[in-house]
Order: sequence, then structure tokens, then C-alpha cells
Amino acid sequence: MKHIILVGFMGCGKTTVGRKLSIALRCPFIDMDDEIVKYAGMSINEIFALKGEEYFRNLETEMLKRLEFTERPLVVSAGGGLVLRKENREIMKKIGTVFYLKAGVDELYERLKNDDTRPLLKSKNVRQRIEEMLHAREHIYEEAADITVDASEKPAKVAGAIQSLIKEADKGKPEEDTDSKPAILVIHGPNLNFLGIREPDIYGNEDYDDLKDYIGNEARSLGLKTVFFQSNHEGALIDRVQEAYFDGTAGIIINPGAYTHYSYALHDALASVADIPKIEVHLSDITAREGFRSKSVTKDACISQIYGKGFSGYKEALSLLNDMIRGKHERD
Ligand code: DQA
Repeated sequence: MKHIILVGFMGCGKTTVGRKLSIALRCPFIDMDDEIVKYAGMSINEIFALKGEEYFRNLETEMLKRLEFTERPLVVSAGGGLVLRKENREIMKKIGTVFYLKAGVDELYERLKNDDTRPLLKSKNVRQRIEEMLHAREHIYEEAADITVDASEKPAKVAGAIQSLIKEADKGKPEEDTDSKPAILVIHGPNLNFLGIREPDIYGNEDYDDLKDYIGNEARSLGLKTVFFQSNHEGALIDRVQEAYFDGTAGIIINPGAYTHYSYALHDALASVADIPKIEVHLSDITAREGFRSKSVTKDACISQIYGKGFSGYKEALSLLNDMIRGKHERD
């Protein structure tokens, strides 16, 4: 599945609809305007006033390009003017399915008339301004979109309509043969994306992609499929563990990095998904290094802990999970 990208005039409900869709589809949600505000450390009004619209548009393109490299499908609310650049429209089509949330002037005016966070609507006659801008942009939204949806309805209804359209589009697609295989979620915590760079005397010269290839190949030979997730953020790791509860994950292999040694929150997340077998793996021998590494606060939520075996520790974990999963299937 590709990203689900929502475009449309400001006030058309991209953010509200996007959040609802993200819950329904169990995909993370990002609002591109929020990402820009976080990145720039300024409100959109401030960016426009201090740096100008061109600077803001460059940031938008920059953020959009980054989405090409995210491992997981996202629900994305695109800023109202993102579609103005042809380059952006091309990127969006490449990385996602684009939905235009179409609303009329009256609807938009009602939603925007008291909103003072929109620099482009600073006008004595807001209604007229909306009318002019919408007139200029409407055909661009249509061109940017794969599908146009009526956004004059309540957000829950619009989200429901988009969900049905996605389901409908997926119906025709051939099932991937890997889909019937049990899915092993392989989670890596902080700094493990830096394999190959970080302390090669301890972790070796192979990088994170090499590790993923190794695990993927070993899993394939056992008839398992793999889903990878890496983050340097505790909350993101917890969110991903919780998601496993819903997405049919058959087993989890987790190398929580340094969170192993102190994240009770991650322990609790792992303990919450009690029905999913989990194995903790460490590349290095955590018992033979600095004292603080010998303690794992996460391992008690897992059925086993493997350390000090480099990449082959993951092979051992896959084999253990495979036995458990197949055994469970036989029992069922
Ligand atoms: C590690 C060991 C941890 O102590 C360390 O913080 C890591 C990697 C390992 O794989 O050996 O980041 O989990």
C-alpha cells in the first residue's frame, strides 16, 4: 500500500479526515504543515512574515521528498498550496494515492471565516479571497488527484467514503503470495540504524540494510515474512508495538538498543501484547560490557533473550519464533 495523500483547499477537512482515516487504516498520520512548523520552530504566519512564501514552499517540497523514504504507508494531510508546484504533484503521484477533498466556497467560508492562522486569507473580504483562490487552484487539485471526494459531508463520512474507495481499489489487486505467511515484526531501537558507522569493533562493519537483508533472507527460508521498524524514539517504538496488536503480527523480534536497560514503558508495551511471542536480541554480549548493559528491563516481557551472537542471533530468534508459531497453529 502506498501513502494516502489528502489535498484540497484550506478548511476542506484534510487534517480531521486524515486523523480519522489513520485510525481506521492503522497507519500513522502526518500533517505536513505541522511538520514544517516543528522543523522551522515558527508558526506558519511567522514563516510567511519572516522568511516569505518561497521559503515555505521549499520546505514543503523538502518534506514531501522525505516521504519517499519512509518504510511504512502514512496518511498525509498536504498543505493547501502544496499542489501548486508541478514537481510536488509528480512526487505525490509517485509515492501515494492522492485524494482531493472538494468543498465549495460557501462551505469553506463557513469553516474559515474566524480562522486567523491562515496568512493567505488575510483580507478584508475573506469570502471573495476564498472564491478567487479556489477558482485559481481548483483545476490544479483535480489534476493532482487520483480521486476526488465530496468534502462537504461530516469528516467521519468523508473518511468512510475514502476507506471504501481504498478497499474497492484493493479488491482488483492480486494478493501477494507472502501475505498468507506469518509476519514477524523486527523492531530496532536507537542507534541501530547507525550500524556500520557506530563502534565497528563491537558491532561490525555491516550496516542496518545488511542486517535487514540477512534477517529477510533467513525468514524467507523458513516461510515467514518480515516487517521492519526502526526508530530512535521511545514513543515511536511503543506505538509500533501497540500496533502489532491490531495488524496480525505473528511474532516480534526486538533489539531495543539502549532502551533495553531502562525503558519500563517499552517493557509495558511489550507486556501488553501478551499473545504475540517476542524475543529480545542483542548483537553484542551485553553481559561482558559496561555494568549498566547487563541489566535488561525489557527481557521479562519476552519469551527469550539472545545476545552476543551478532547477526546469527536473529536467525536463532526466527527459528524459535517459527517453532512457536507453527506449534500454535497446529494446536489451533
Ligand atoms: C545493543 C546493546 C545495547 O547495550 C546498546 O545500547 C545498543 C545495541 C546490541 O545489539 O548489542 O544499542 O542492543
